Amino acid sequence: MSKVAVLGYGTVGSGVVEVLDVNSAEVEESAGEKIELKYILDLRDFPGDKHQDQVVHDIEVILNDPEIDVICETMGGLEPAFTFEKRALEKGISVCTSNKELVAAHGPELVRIAKEHNCSFLFEASVGGGIPILRTLNTSLRHEKIDSITGILNGTTNYILTKMDKDKIGFATVLKEAQDKGYAERKPEADIEGYDACRKTAILASLLSGQYVSYEDIETEGITKITQQDFAYAKSLGMSIKLLGMIKKNNSGFFTMVSPFLIPLENPLALVNEVFNAIVVHGNMLGNTMYYGKGAGKEATASAVVADLIDIIVHKKSHIDVNLNDIPAELSDNGNYVHRFFVRVDESTEDEARELFGSNIEIVESSEVFGEFAFVTDLISEKDFKTKYTKLSKAKAFLREL
Ligand code: HSE
Repeated sequence: MSKVAVLGYGTVGSGVVEVLDVNSAEVEESAGEKIELKYILDLRDFPGDKHQDQVVHDIEVILNDPEIDVICETMGGLEPAFTFEKRALEKGISVCTSNKELVAAHGPELVRIAKEHNCSFLFEASVGGGIPILRTLNTSLRHEKIDSITGILNGTTNYILTKMDKDKIGFATVLKEAQDKGYAERKPEADIEGYDACRKTAILASLLSGQYVSYEDIETEGITKITQQDFAYAKSLGMSIKLLGMIKKNNSGFFTMVSPFLIPLENPLALVNEVFNAIVVHGNMLGNTMYYGKGAGKEATASAVVADLIDIIVHKKSHIDVNLNDIPAELSDNGNYVHRFFVRVDESTEDEARELFGSNIEIVESSEVFGEFAFVTDLISEKDFKTKYTKLSKAKAFLREL
């Protein structure tokens, strides 16, 4: 029998407890032994809750109990989660977490401490919610030379973009509706500005490189500037707009970026709607594989935490390698990365656009937009595009094409 503590009895933490309750037989079978939930750490009491007697308020109770084998940290945020996890690992107690902010900031250090103390630090639920993407990268695809990972990594923004696309509603209105329904946070910046997707991209890039990619080094743009006009043009182009986290390997390192992209409707990523996430991984032998599922939500995220918990128990008294260390990964200059760009300018500046981007730009028409025109460039590097774009006298907006 293994004994477990869950830190944080909020959405994900209560989900973990629910998975352990509802799927107790399956969990026991895959772990090879019973798992007892000994403690739940939370500042609050939960009178009437089935697990009220397991609730404690002091982390020392858990850290000083020699019976505890694993901690599931579902509190979120950097502190006190970081200190609690570090202290647990230093005592040889394995940790699994859904805390992407913490993994993106301190993952390599926590993996090193786990290794030094012959225990494990796993974080499957930190990327893609319930999608088993990290374990897939670390095990099934470890022998592949992976040269790109492209993903819809944030459920909230995908929900907003889906609504804007299908229901023709503006960004601000959809955001408010999403907040009223509880899909988007009252403080939505982490999602809509792309910071959450950026942290998940950093975790994926770190695993792909086996080194450390800091989220601070990833060029990040959110969805706040996307308008109904952009969707009207996207429709004319036979495309959708999605917020993507992108990692591309080249000879000198990686390009990494989080940005809204126009995606052709025949690309499976264009069909990923609502709060769902999807991640496309390209390996040199395997080609493309795509992983799809609920990227957020109580049960899905909790299921991924429990998968880590089981892995840890199966590999008790040993360290599970996760191909992550604190050597900084070599990132390439995004300026050299080449795309087609979609550009909107004032209708009076078509000649100017042709002069700067060439006479063969593809003009995009939409019966729903007035007083402007749009075009798509040939393949052009980020650096060259931005130089030319700033020379346009009446530019309105641009988007990258996948
Ligand atoms: N805010 C995140 C999202 C939650 O919308 O995807 C899951 O990480």
